[in-house]
Order: sequence, then C-alpha cells, then structure tokens
Amino acid sequence: MTTNEQPRTQWLGRWGFVLAATGSAVGLGNIWKFPYITGEYGGGAFVLVYLACILAVGVPVMMTEIALGRRGRGSPIDAIRRVTSESGSSSAWSLLGWMAMLAGFMILSFYVVVAGWSFSYLWKMLSGGLAGSSVEEMAAIFGANNESPLNLGFWSTLVTVATMVIVGKGVQAGIEKSVSWMMPGMVMMLLVLIGYGMFSGGFGEAVHFLFSFDVGSLSSEGMLAALGHAFFTLSLASGAILTYGSYLPARASIARTTLSVALADTLVALMAGLAIFPVIFANGMSPASGPGLIFMSLPLAFQAMPLGTLFGILFFIMLSMAALTSSISMVEATVSWLTDNKGISRRTASWGTGIVLWLVSTLAMLSFNVGADWTLAGKHFFDWLDYLTSRLMMPLGGLGMVLLAGFVLKSETFREELGLSAGWYALWLFMVRYVSPLGILVIFVDALGITRVVLAQHWPWLLAVLVVITVVGELASPRLRRVLSP
Ligand code: PHE
Repeated sequence: MTTNEQPRTQWLGRWGFVLAATGSAVGLGNIWKFPYITGEYGGGAFVLVYLACILAVGVPVMMTEIALGRRGRGSPIDAIRRVTSESGSSSAWSLLGWMAMLAGFMILSFYVVVAGWSFSYLWKMLSGGLAGSSVEEMAAIFGANNESPLNLGFWSTLVTVATMVIVGKGVQAGIEKSVSWMMPGMVMMLLVLIGYGMFSGGFGEAVHFLFSFDVGSLSSEGMLAALGHAFFTLSLASGAILTYGSYLPARASIARTTLSVALADTLVALMAGLAIFPVIFANGMSPASGPGLIFMSLPLAFQAMPLGTLFGILFFIMLSMAALTSSISMVEATVSWLTDNKGISRRTASWGTGIVLWLVSTLAMLSFNVGADWTLAGKHFFDWLDYLTSRLMMPLGGLGMVLLAGFVLKSETFREELGLSAGWYALWLFMVRYVSPLGILVIFVDALGITRVVLAQHWPWLLAVLVVITVVGELASPRLRRVLSP
C-alpha cells in the first residue's frame, strides 16, 4: 500500500550499487570499532570468530537482504510486506522492517558522534593542535575534546547536516554521486597510508596479536561481540543494504556484488588493524584502551614520523569520508519510507529525519560530558545505543530475515532474484535455513549467561522501555496497529 506508483529509482551507473554498498559497509566500523573491540576481546580468537560470522552469517544475510529489497522495490517495511503478500504469508513479518529501520536510526545517533571526533581531529591536524604531544597529552586532548558539549555538539551537528544534505539530494544526485568520488578517493588514501605504515616498524607484534588464534581464551561475551560486529560492519539488519538493494537493476548479480562488498569490507578491517596495532605496541600503549584507541594512538604515531602531519591529515580525511558514505546509508531506509508513504518530498523527509536524529544524537553526545553520570547498568546512553543495536537488534533481525527467506517465502522468489545455478542455490538455502540461524542462536544462548544478570537486575527498566516504545509506535503509526492485528 504505497502512494508512490512510479517505477522505483535505480542506480545510474554500472558500479552504483557496489560503490554505495561498499561505502556503507566500509566505515568507522572497520577503522575505529574493529581495532578497539579486537583489542578488548583479546585479539586473534576474536578475529577468527568474526571471520567465521562474516562467512556463515554475513554473506547469506546480505544476499537475502539485497534480494528482498530488489524483489519488494521499497523501504524495508514496504519491501517485506510486498514480498510476503506475493507469497501469501503473514504481513507481520514487516515488523522486521520496522526493527531494521529503527536500528539504522539508532546506530546513526551514536555514529555521528564518532564521525564528529574524526572531523574534529582533522581540524586539529590542520591547525597543528596535536603537535609535539606525549602519550599522556594525547589522552588528555581526547578527554578535553569530549568535555565541552558545545565543541562536541558542533562536530556531530556538522556530520548530521552533511548526511542530510547528501540524502536530501536523492539516490542518484546525492548518494550515488557522492560515493562515486569519495570511494575511489578513500581507497587511494588508504593505499598510501598502508605503504607509509609498512615502514613504521612494530609490524610483527601486531600480526601476532591479530592472527594467533587461541580460541580457548574467548568468552561468550566476545563471541556475541564478534557476531554483532559482523552485522554492523556489513551494514546488515539496519535497513541500509536492503534499501540500497531496492534500487538495484534487475540484471545485476546479487551473489557477485555481495562477495565483492564483503571482501572489500573484510580487507579494509584487517588492513586497518595492521596499520593501527603496530603503532600501539611500538608506543607501549594498551590495545584495550576502548573507543579512544585510534584517536590517541594514531596522531601520536603520525607526529613522530617524517611528513606525519601530512599523512595524519590524509588519514582523517579518509576516515571522515568513510564515515559519511556509511551514515548516508543509515537514514536512507527512513527517508525512502517517508517519501513513499507520507506524500512528502525527499528534502522534507530528510530534514524531518535530521531534526529527530539531531535530538537523539545530542543525548548520545552528552554521555561524554554533562551526562557522564547518567548510566544504566553501568552503560551510558551512547553505549546502550551501540549495545542494543549490535548485540540484540541486528542479530535478531538477521535471524528473522533468514528464517523468512528460508522457511516462509516461496522458493521462486529467491530462485529468480538470486539467479544461481542449482548447486549454489542449494548451498545458499542450506546456509539461510540451518547454518546462519543456528550460528546466531548458539551465540545468543551462550551469551544469555551474562544477559541474565542484566535482566534480573534491571527488568523494571526494560519493561518501561518496552511500554514506551509500544505507546510511541502505536501513536506514530496506525499502520503498525493494522499490521499487529491483521
Ligand atoms: N558498516 C558501517 C561501518 O562499518 C556501519 C553501518 C551499520 C552502516 C549499519 C550502515 C548500517 O562503519
């Protein structure tokens, strides 16, 4: 039931989807989050589980999402509703679309804060604000940068505005056009930086840290983190890939595009690890220093090296671009849903979304200063956004998606969309029916040991949140009510 009866926009160029989806996948997740959580969960064993999750869960889920998007030609909610009605199955599955859209929005609310760090460090590099600082001073600078809500808010607002300007311009003129120069530029800068990093020494310890697989040392918490990160880094179960897939021309191969996106994403994460950890170890820093890791270690390394400022500037330009090509993909689902269903222009939809986003992200930003004491179960609002999305909503959403594809929808849907040979199709089906769901379930159940403690201590809060979400959802959309009581 959409008011938009025109044929859906498609990517203009041959590489439109691959560039945009890779732009979405490669982001702060690869360069900021992957190194720091690898550090926190102890290195090689975590990396191994993460790689297994990419292959066994990430790739099948990504193929499923692109196929659902292209088949349903709409935002996650509309696409899933169309595809289920085509198969004669319950439209309640479109709740998965709601959850994905919400997850994308929640991720963006903390993502703009981190992207803001990147922009502010670019500015510091340009203005010489980091020159000559010691290890301790770098940590102090990172702290000071967070202390002022005005300063931090300025940078995250900048990112929000940039994101909305690009998305507001449309799929072709905004998203496709911007990724078509940002992605090649980013890759070139990354290659230059890696070349530079290879001569910086300290490589051996980093390689050992990343690739010595001592699986016994990994906790169930770490496994859940690896699973969540596989979803996060491939932009899955958050509306991004599904919505981008809805613009994919019919002739493109879903399997081939998925593999190139997943491969590029994995390579960038590993390369980022190989660029960052040598510096950490060479300076005697701890790999487990959390979200500030790359903001304290890299500037330090750069300023000690020949032409370091120049390369530092290059690094933060690259990081900022990587962040922007991801952030635009997180709101595209919401903006596309609004324009398709609410009869408003894309520009209005973008600015409307932007204002709500700004409010939520401001709350997330305050976790670092004014709201430093506002915690629940030891986590700030910022951490909760990250935790809820990557540990809960994305794995659950992915589980729902593979079950929908594997057991609910008619098999013609995927046979036609994926266009695979019989053997490859059977492999895909086996993955979505058994390997991916079981993988997700096992990791979940394993992690329940920890979740149980949180549940026992804080269930009134969780219940309250559930009630609030229900009320808001009911008020916000009579459509949801119709879905809930068909
Ligand atoms: N994949 C992006 C990254 O690694 C983050 C992202 C998550 C983008 C969800 C879109 C949707 O930085």
